[in-house]
Amino acid sequence: MFGLFKKIQVDIDGTTYPAAKNSTLLRVCLSHGINIQYKCQSGVCGKCAVIEHTSQGDIPTLACQKVISPSETGRFSTIR
Ligand code: FES
Repeated sequence: MFGLFKKIQVDIDGTTYPAAKNSTLLRVCLSHGINIQYKCQSGVCGKCAVIEHTSQGDIPTLACQKVISPSETGRFSTIR
């Protein structure tokens, strides 16, 4: 039963932040005051590019398009 309410956490630049289920990484960054560039919020401009660290390696991704789900352990680095 408690698994239904599992907290989602993401690691951004080495700090762990709580995240609401199905929010985008950009929303998580903005809600915690993380300095990240963005403009269109629709996946067009590329300004919100971040690096996602996965078991398969580092993958560039767009924070505005990256939806945080409970099944993943998100670890990201912003690009400045
Ligand atoms: S804000 Fe433009 S691609 Fe994410």
